Amino acid sequence: MKSSSVSLGMTTGMTTGMTTNDAPFIEQAKRAGQLYIEQPYDLYSEENHQAWRKLYARLLPRWDRYANEHFLKGIHSLCLDPDRIPHLEDVNRFLRPLTGFQTKAVSGYVPAFIFFDCLRNRAFPTTVTIRRSDKLDYLPEPDIFHDVAGHVPMHTDKHFAEALVRFGECAHTAAEIAAGIRGPDTRTHYLTSVIRAMARFFWFTIEFGLMRGGDGLKVYGSGLLSSYGEIAHAIESPEVQRYPMQLEWAINQGFEINHYQPLLFVVDSFDHLFSLVDQLETWMKAGKLSNVAPGEPEVNEEDLKSFLHAELT
Ligand SMILES: [Fe+2]
Repeated sequence: MKSSSVSLGMTTGMTTGMTTNDAPFIEQAKRAGQLYIEQPYDLYSEENHQAWRKLYARLLPRWDRYANEHFLKGIHSLCLDPDRIPHLEDVNRFLRPLTGFQTKAVSGYVPAFIFFDCLRNRAFPTTVTIRRSDKLDYLPEPDIFHDVAGHVPMHTDKHFAEALVRFGECAHTAAEIAAGIRGPDTRTHYLTSVIRAMARFFWFTIEFGLMRGGDGLKVYGSGLLSSYGEIAHAIESPEVQRYPMQLEWAINQGFEINHYQPLLFVVDSFDHLFSLVDQLETWMKAGKLSNVAPGEPEVNEEDLKSFLHAELT
């Protein structure tokens, strides 16, 4: 009798490997329309583990120097193995008791409402593929290193976790407002603007945020925490403009994902971040997010549909 631990890749004759853009298991899941998947741990190749090991070893001294204290505490609490890609169930075992958050493996892109709604339910859609071990520096799409080493340690912090849940609730408010708009064109215009505003807020806080504390300026944004080059650039470079977080600016500010960020915003604490999310919702209800400045990011059809078909329970 075959062991149930025999990997799917072996049984279907697929080559193994869970490399970004080169993972047959993921292609198959996408073709089957499966967004939520099991992490197929046996499919990771030695090269995949090596990529994790190299990334982790390079970032470790930079985290000590540039990351905020909550992240450092989080990395410690999760007991991540520096040498092997983590099992998500192990990550969840350490994470869940702290804030109720857990990782949820996905096959790829998660449309905006579904993503935000997961946050509301303390689930974090998590990429399970990893970048190539000879191309560690630049990756436009998320991978498991970005998601688990960059995002998840932040989810161990109660105050940060509450801000994230609150942000997820804002998506519900947006979908409710949209459902009350009669004309389809007006509704689409509204949703395009509000999704753009939320994406910008997320970008300038959760992904690329800085925080000022007793020990100076530190990084809490996951895009920075998972980038060997940019984590130092964000703090040290004279080319970066760093301003106290201003909501009206951030939601009207476009961003490009293919180079180091020239503009970053600073919060004082995660309570401050929470109050900004509150303000975002207040402004949403007051109509102040209905016509934000056009530009990046693009809002795609899938994002719009996810809001239009949102289940508002
Ligand atoms: Fe991210």
